[in-house]
Amino acid sequence: MRRYDAMNATAWRVAGLAALLMSTACARDADRASVTTNAPKAAAAATATAAATATTPVMVVHKTPTCGCCELWVDHMRSADFTVEVRDTDDLTPIKAALGVPPGKGSCHTAEIDGYVIEGHVPAEDVRRLLAERPQARGLVLPGMPLGSPGMELPDGHVQPYTVELLAEDGSTSTFRRVEGDR
Ligand code: CU
Ligand code: CU
Repeated sequence: MRRYDAMNATAWRVAGLAALLMSTACARDADRASVTTNAPKAAAAATATAAATATTPVMVVHKTPTCGCCELWVDHMRSADFTVEVRDTDDLTPIKAALGVPPGKGSCHTAEIDGYVIEGHVPAEDVRRLLAERPQARGLVLPGMPLGSPGMELPDGHVQPYTVELLAEDGSTSTFRRVEGDR
């Protein structure tokens, strides 16, 4: 269980691609493209649409049905213009294991986007940076549920210091971004 194996990696990437193809946004684009196939101008537009879709892949979020802070994080991602598909499940453990989230680095929800895993309340800006830089890595983890992170905001605005970590292919982690707290 501790070792991340290549077969699992392939399986979950294929699953992610299937999710991408099934998404409403892509279905809509496919419809639009099929109507306009014969006109060169429209074909160029369809290509542009395809390119835009490619740069904003669908995020799949695995969470338990009753998780309130997970919903708030989904809201955070959506308001940052991510397209999010939520999958409720009662047991996230096998999903985290298959995606290679190391024991002790877990949080309340696990997301997949463009071949990367995003564990926990990671800010949208860090996900954007990950997708822009495309490092050789499994993804990003924000262990636990730091107060003040997206979806964990407090009424008084308190933010505790936290570190978004880059999860390497070998399961080790390093600092991706340090967020300073307010006190
Ligand atoms: Cu949470
Ligand atoms: Cu959550």
